[in-house]
Amino acid sequence: MLTETVLHTERLVLRPLVATDAGALFAVFSDPEVMRYWSCAPWTGIAQADHDIAGAGEGLASGAMLRLGIELAASGELAGQIRMHRFDQQNRRCEVGYALGRPYWGRGYLGEAMKAMLDHGFSALDLNRVEADVDPRNAASARLLERMGFEREGLLRERWIVAGEVCDTAFYGLLKSDWDERRSR
Ligand SMILES: CC(C)(COP(=O)(O)OP(=O)(O)OC[C@H]1O[C@@H](n2cnc3c(N)ncnc32)[C@H](O)[C@@H]1OP(=O)(O)O)[C@@H](O)C(=O)NCCC(=O)NCCS
Repeated sequence: MLTETVLHTERLVLRPLVATDAGALFAVFSDPEVMRYWSCAPWTGIAQADHDIAGAGEGLASGAMLRLGIELAASGELAGQIRMHRFDQQNRRCEVGYALGRPYWGRGYLGEAMKAMLDHGFSALDLNRVEADVDPRNAASARLLERMGFEREGLLRERWIVAGEVCDTAFYGLLKSDWDERRSR
């Protein structure tokens, strides 16, 4: 059951979002710098956070999306979110997406969260492949994926139109065999 998923790392707790996370989530997704390369415009009202949290709960309940809040274990602050979605059962693959609030960048939190999600995905969820769709200009995201062992597999031109801006996709993939090989080193 995805609804019961809670993952612990050295500094983080990855856990389902709850209604009281709305303020912290809004702070992350209303920041134009965080949203610079996201697939929608920055949020403008707290109702978007409420709606998003409700959607995350529905996704967990139906099994369509594993979307977890990234909480700092020491303080209980919600720093961001990470999700696995677009599950394809037959082909045992999904897509990963993530965002941290600006105060939490550059501290290695996302790498820590991503390792826990990938371990979970390739074991408990029996995935064979995880994909990521990244704006090619998003250097921090590309660097993070490459550090996790993702390969850049191609460029999809003009795949997104966000608030009138046409954007390309750099498409990344990580196989279970890549991950197992890295983890055994
Ligand atoms: C992507 C994101 C989660 C990365 O988290 P982070 O905590 O900033 O990650 P790090 O600081 O560990 O940076 C990752 C790597 O990118 C590098 N990096 C960071 N900012 C960079 C920049 N502007 N240009 C080039 N490299 C950059 C870091 O030096 C680091 O490299 P290293 O592993 O060799 O040290 C964060 O920047 C974020 O939330 N961005 C907004 C949302 C977003 O774009 N999500 C991804 C959508 S696909």
